Amino acid sequence: MAKPNKPEQVPDTGHEWDGIRELTNPIPRWWMISFHASWIFCVVYLLLYPSIPLLHESTKGLLGWTQIKEFKEAVAENDAVKAPFLKKVAQMSGQELLDDAGMRNFADSSAKAIFGDNCAACHGSGGQGAPGLFPNLADDAWLYGGDFDTIVETITDGREGDMPAHKGELPDAEINLLADFVVAAAEGKATPKGLIHFNEAGCAGCHGEDAKGGAINELGSGAANLTDGIWRFGGSKDEVLRTIRYGVNQEDVPNTRIAIMPAFGEKLTPESIKMLAVKVHELGGGK
Ligand code: HEC
Ligand code: HEC
Repeated sequence: MAKPNKPEQVPDTGHEWDGIRELTNPIPRWWMISFHASWIFCVVYLLLYPSIPLLHESTKGLLGWTQIKEFKEAVAENDAVKAPFLKKVAQMSGQELLDDAGMRNFADSSAKAIFGDNCAACHGSGGQGAPGLFPNLADDAWLYGGDFDTIVETITDGREGDMPAHKGELPDAEINLLADFVVAAAEGKATPKGLIHFNEAGCAGCHGEDAKGGAINELGSGAANLTDGIWRFGGSKDEVLRTIRYGVNQEDVPNTRIAIMPAFGEKLTPESIKMLAVKVHELGGGK
C-alpha cells in the first residue's frame, strides 16, 4: 500500500468546506477487497439459495435447499437409526423386552416423548396422576393390573370403571354403615362384621370378598382396593358416601364419578404402545 503523503503534498479535488479539503488519496486496498468480496458473496448466495421474494413465493435457488427438506432429512436419518430397534420391539414379547437391559432402555427413553404427547395431560409428566381425577401410574396400586399384557390392553382398548349407584338401591342407613366400613378398612381397622355387611350388600362381587380390589383378585373389573389407604376419588367419609351413592361412570346419574381412560389402539402404533407399557411397568415398580 502506498504511504499516504503529507496532506499538503496530495492534490485535492478542488472541493473545500470550512477549511477541510477533499484529497485524491486512493481508497485503502483492504476496504476495496472487502467491498468486492461482499457483493460477490451476495450474488452467489442469491443464486444458490431461496432469496428474492416474488408475488407468491421466493426464487428457489440452484441448490434447491429448503428448511423443511433439511428437517425431513434429519428426521429420516433419525428414523433409520431407530428402525432396527423398532423392528426388535415388534418381535419381542413383553417379558423379553423387560429382561433385555438395552431394549428396555431404548423403549423407556422413546416412550418418554410419546408419554409426554399423549398421557401426561391426564396422568402428569411423571405419571403421578391427579387426586380424584386420574390414577397415579407411579405407585404399586393397580385398578386393572400392572403386568405387561394388562397394561398393553389398558392403553390399546381404554378403560371405563363401572360401579353402580347405590342410592335408592340400599337404605341410607345401610349406605352409611358401608361408608364407615370403607373408611375403617382403609386404615386397616375393618371389622369382621363390617366385611360381612360389605359382602351381603353385593360390593364383594367387584371389590373382592376381602375388599382388596378387582385387579388383585383377578376379577378384572377395575374395582379399587379399598384396604390400601390409596384413594382413587377421596377417602373422607363424604367422598366415600358420594362414590357409593352415585357410583362411577353411571349414565344419567348426576354426581357420578367420571373415570374414562381413552383407547389409543387407533392413534398409536403397536410398537409405541409396547414401549409405553415398558415405561408404565417401570414407573409402577413392575408386577
Ligand atoms: C383423558 C385422560 C387420560 C389420558 C389422555 C390417558 N389416560 Fe390413562 N387413565 C385415565 C383414567 C381416568 C384412568 C382410570 C380409569 C378408571 O378408573 O376406570 C386411566 C387409567 C390408566 C391405566 C390403568 C391404571 C391401573 O391402575 O390399572 C393405565 C396403565 C393408563 N391409564 C395409562 C395411560 C397411558 C400410557 C396413556 C397415554 C397413552 C394414558 N393413560 C392416557 C385417563 C387418561
Ligand atoms: C359392578 C362392580 C362394582 C360394585 C358392585 C361395587 N363397586 Fe365400588 N368400585 C367399582 C369400580 C370399578 C371402582 C373404581 C372406579 C375407577 O377407578 O374407575 C370402584 C370404586 C369404589 C370406591 C372408590 C375408592 C377410591 O379409591 O376412591 C369406593 C369407596 C367403592 N367403590 C365402594 C363400594 C361399595 C361400598 C360397594 C357396595 C355397596 C361397591 N363399591 C360396589 C366397582 C364396583
